[in-house]
Amino acid sequence: MTEPRTIADLIERRFGLPTTAGAGMPAEGPLARILSRRSQRTFKPDPVPDELLTVLLACAQSAPAKSDLQQYSIIVVQDPAIRRELGRQGKHLDWPSKAPVLLVFCGDVRRIRRLAAIRGHAYANDNTDTFMNAAVDAAIAFETFLLAAESVGLGCCGLSAVRFQIENTAKVLGLPEGVFPVAGMAVGWPAEPETDEKRTSMRLPPEVVVHRDRYDDSKLEAAITAYDARRHARQPLTPEKQRHIDTYGALDCCPWSENVTRQLSLPERPAFRTFLAKQGIHPD
Ligand SMILES: Cc1cc2nc3c(=O)[nH]c(=O)nc-3n(C[C@H](O)[C@H](O)[C@H](O)COP(=O)(O)O)c2cc1C
Repeated sequence: MTEPRTIADLIERRFGLPTTAGAGMPAEGPLARILSRRSQRTFKPDPVPDELLTVLLACAQSAPAKSDLQQYSIIVVQDPAIRRELGRQGKHLDWPSKAPVLLVFCGDVRRIRRLAAIRGHAYANDNTDTFMNAAVDAAIAFETFLLAAESVGLGCCGLSAVRFQIENTAKVLGLPEGVFPVAGMAVGWPAEPETDEKRTSMRLPPEVVVHRDRYDDSKLEAAITAYDARRHARQPLTPEKQRHIDTYGALDCCPWSENVTRQLSLPERPAFRTFLAKQGIHPD
């Protein structure tokens, strides 16, 4: 595709599908930035100024939160010894532990439990609803930080990798009862060109994600077959990106749907429930 001139061009790049939506809107401003964003995993060594980080954290805290309960915490991991310890968990956290900024967004049901005790109220919501509210609050703060950071030219990458060895992460970060990591984030000035078509991760077609009035996945298979083909044509999954090749072998053509179903064919992080119980959180 030639250089995008309109929002429609950027939507076309995102999905690999033609559209007229946004054809009259120039490819600039916040919508263009969101449509062309991508995760960044390599950063220049330049630091992120403290003042800018403070501003971005204030943006993160401007996110909406369920019932204004604000059940999340953000850990800014700066201590080199703590970063080294996290990096020792393996390659998934090795590069993030060297990022200019490393954050961990946590669900936090501790704060209000403590406040309940301080104010002399019973706490009657150790349940799945509260767990989900806290996780969602943390996720929205994560995304608000990310969009704010990307709007000033920073690059970000989410890190569910902080949950691979969750006990170790919790120990190293001193997470007390009631606090659980949702995702980390590596942040810095991008070392690679910010966007181009090959680097824009193609999304599922809106027809399988956006439903009108009633849920309808009757056209799923056909839509995914076409998506797999479009995605492979633009961004073939090389063997190093293919999941569980020790179990399933490497493929010359590995469609997205093959890769994600391979990924979830083995349990991921089965220790999470036990970890939550240890943190005093009991989704019922
Ligand atoms: C909650 C969350 C956790 C993620 N965890 C990781 C991770 O541990 N390691 C990683 O390399 N990327 C991680 N990512 C980045 C995704 O892989 C990435 O968003 C996805 O492949 C789509 O690519 P894009 O962001 O460039 O469009 C995470 C993203 C999110 C939102």
